[in-house]
Amino acid sequence: MTNKIVVFISGNGSNLQRVIDKIADKTLDYKIMLVVSNKKNAYGITRAMTNGIPTLYFPYIRKNYKNREEYDEKLAHRVKSICKFKWIVCLGWMHIFTNNFIKAFPEKTILNLHPALPGQFPGSDAIGEAYKYYKENPCLDMMTGAMVHWVIAEIDAGEVVKTIDIPVFTCDTLEDLRKRVQFHEKIVLINALRFLSNRFLYS
Ligand code: GAR
Repeated sequence: MTNKIVVFISGNGSNLQRVIDKIADKTLDYKIMLVVSNKKNAYGITRAMTNGIPTLYFPYIRKNYKNREEYDEKLAHRVKSICKFKWIVCLGWMHIFTNNFIKAFPEKTILNLHPALPGQFPGSDAIGEAYKYYKENPCLDMMTGAMVHWVIAEIDAGEVVKTIDIPVFTCDTLEDLRKRVQFHEKIVLINALRFLSNRFLYS
């Protein structure tokens, strides 16, 4: 059965585009019900609209909410009111969920793509952090990676679905590493989505 998902983005949406493309070439049995962005100019919104996917722009404007918890609660409520879906997939969603968002859904509903290996370089600039770390601590086996994991209240943590190792070379510029990670993260993303759809197919 086709898995219905909602994709959360904040920027370019190149990972969203990969999911759209794989669905279109019928190698991924998913349907994107909605794309949510907290940033008005996120190019991912244009990608969604070009492909006929409904969008929701839902910014965190401080003065409109008592706190982040209230925003998260309203966001969860709004998304639920728009469509039915199985999973939320965060692809470059740059807003840390509070427990108020997470607890609005059953366990293992929210997935996140993070451009680092489990336990390493959490936060919004994982690739930059990995680059800086290996510049300062060069060694023989320099490795970063990307992962898809279930979201829990702790940032970029939670049970891992799939990971991919990505080498760091001494001659790399930050841009080289960024390009390599952003190439390989799309592979782990599609692997994880395929893995989950097979795994849950007969359960
Ligand atoms: C991706 O590199 C993704 O791994 C990262 O944001 C980028 C979004 O790119 N996510 C995080 O850092 C989450 N902590 P995109 O908008 O082109 O898909």
